[in-house]
Amino acid sequence: MAKTATWPSETGPQVAKRHSLHVDALIHALTAAVGERDVLVDDDLRASYETDWTRRFHGTARAVVRPGSAEEIAAVLSACAEHGAAVVPQGGNTGMVGASVPRGGEVVLSLGRLRELGEVDRATAQVTAGAGVTLAELQAHARAAGLDAGVDFGGRDSATVGGMVSTNAGGIQAIRHGTVRARVAGLQAVLADGSVVDRRSGLLKDNAGYDLPALLVGSEGTLGVVTSVRWRLVALLTARVAALVPLGSVAEVAAVLARVRPALPSLHAAELMTDAGVQLVLDHVAGASFPLAARSPAYLLLECAGGADPADELVSALREAGLEDAVVADESGERERLWRLREGHTEALNAAAIPHKMDVGVPLRELPRFAGEVVALVERVAPGSRTIVFGHLGDGNVHVNVLGPDPDDDRVDEAVLRLAAGCGGTISAEHGVGVAKARWLSLARSPGELRAMRAIKRALDPDGILNPGAVLPPG
Ligand code: MLT
Ligand code: ZN
Repeated sequence: MAKTATWPSETGPQVAKRHSLHVDALIHALTAAVGERDVLVDDDLRASYETDWTRRFHGTARAVVRPGSAEEIAAVLSACAEHGAAVVPQGGNTGMVGASVPRGGEVVLSLGRLRELGEVDRATAQVTAGAGVTLAELQAHARAAGLDAGVDFGGRDSATVGGMVSTNAGGIQAIRHGTVRARVAGLQAVLADGSVVDRRSGLLKDNAGYDLPALLVGSEGTLGVVTSVRWRLVALLTARVAALVPLGSVAEVAAVLARVRPALPSLHAAELMTDAGVQLVLDHVAGASFPLAARSPAYLLLECAGGADPADELVSALREAGLEDAVVADESGERERLWRLREGHTEALNAAAIPHKMDVGVPLRELPRFAGEVVALVERVAPGSRTIVFGHLGDGNVHVNVLGPDPDDDRVDEAVLRLAAGCGGTISAEHGVGVAKARWLSLARSPGELRAMRAIKRALDPDGILNPGAVLPPG
């Protein structure tokens, strides 16, 4: 975020000279680690690494380095430690909480060159994938072997394995397969002291001591740099059917999910949209269209998937629940048309303005209260702004997006996060804490948990060079 830019903080000719010598020595060491071609120092070459997807978070990097192996990353981290330079690891740069872009003066460590993709082991249903492999590539590779990645979301063409593991990504299939944590059978990572730790044997049962890979999942680059992952695949379910159910309110959407869920063992996704979000998509996303004759205040998008066609299961569950207005779509273009309405939200929001994205989790029983209060709350804090609510209903994961307030004005963020916490929820369901929410971590974690987190951070990164400012609040 521009306002957090802090380096260099000293001024004056003497200091400037000292800094430039210092920078040169660092750049020299980084070049020795990865080669001149992969140390980017020019403004135009660094630019695409310095701003996030939402455009809300940006800063200037001292350099962008693009190592090609764990060993080169170890050399980069050693060089940065020696020169006191902070490091921001970056995957596909699809993050939404400012954790993968510089705040001011860090070295950006781009993992895009770690492109190893091993042969699928069909017996264990596992594959080894480098941090720079995209989700779409992982999916295609797994599907060619008759399996699937078990994770999916709109950013699949850009989001990478390393980023997904470092943020414990969620997405639309978490209701069936869990978050990325459930996909990790092991990983390789480089720690702040340059040691390379490797647990990619793929053994599901391995209780020999502390589970370091588990600690790194979701640590947002603050405890180590994930370089390669032993990924657990899932069965490939080729028969899919989706339904769009128009409803009167978000509370009704939650109630309907509770009614149909027990009758849907093949449930693959259960997503929430409101008409305000649908309209935004129709306004901004090319090719988006609405499939029903009349509009409704809220919508439930269901998808079932199986080895055999789950259409009968879905249709009879909807009938039993009296939901005759629903539109059901199979593998023809119709299913994609429904998903375009849901997945187009991010693109539409970005096209409309620089959004404030609050990715909260709320227990389903509290969702009616949360949804009933959030729009009025935002209107009180930021009059005239637009609030778009959507998300992964089955996981209680609600994306509250607000258009209007200045990117640096975070009053609306605080109000929404406090409301979620007050409903017994969390301030981050799937996007992570990053720098965007670090100062509110205590809304979701107790003092004891925060002390333990700080102790872990100190133990693994005593000099604080790994993604400082992300996850843990200052002080
Ligand atoms: C989604 O569910 O579409 C993603 O989390 C992206 C977003 O929140 O914009
Ligand atoms: Zn999401």
